[in-house]
Amino acid sequence: MDLPSTFDVIFPQALPSTYDNHTVRKLSSMKGQFADQQAYARLLDKEDVVLYEVYEFKRPQEAGELLYGISVVHPGKVGDEYYMTKGHFHAVRETAEVYYCLKGQGVMVMETPEGDWAVEELRPGKVLYVPPCWAHRSVNTGSQEDLVTFFVYPGHAGHDYGTIEQYGFRKLVIEVNGQLQIVDNPRWQAPGERP
Ligand code: F6R
Ligand code: ZN
Repeated sequence: MDLPSTFDVIFPQALPSTYDNHTVRKLSSMKGQFADQQAYARLLDKEDVVLYEVYEFKRPQEAGELLYGISVVHPGKVGDEYYMTKGHFHAVRETAEVYYCLKGQGVMVMETPEGDWAVEELRPGKVLYVPPCWAHRSVNTGSQEDLVTFFVYPGHAGHDYGTIEQYGFRKLVIEVNGQLQIVDNPRWQAPGERP
């Protein structure tokens, strides 16, 4: 039988006091995902830096359950583009997700299978609801701090990384003269025009 459980968020790092699984995503696992491929290659040549980490709690991946954890995107840029997560649709499209920002500065880039898009700010105390069918990617737009968020989503959601790997998101989040800019992704194609 399951018993209720708790964990603490330990500040100032905003990391969990306990967890079941820790995933570390390095630059080498994001080939082709950053717009500036030369900047990517130069950085990778120097060091396979850690872009983000995910701490998860193990629960059955089935309807009725909730999967939850803490995501940490480190600060940095590849060329002009901020460090970010791979991003994904949920395999079961009709599943939502809630994020609660614990630390840092960033945005969530989102889009639908039809190509509608949205970018929402993340800062400590902000709660973000990602509706069913919206792909999502967290981006750390801060210069020093980690972007730390708590997330929770349905147990049966699953992950579909393929579409984003192939085309990216419609919008890129970059820094120009110290200012955040949201620009079109040249690699993106309207869903109706994809081969
Ligand atoms: C789960 C979810 C988050 C992300 C995490 C890492 O559905 O959205 O837990 O998994 O922020 O991002 P990805 O999975 O895109 O590498
Ligand atoms: Zn998700």
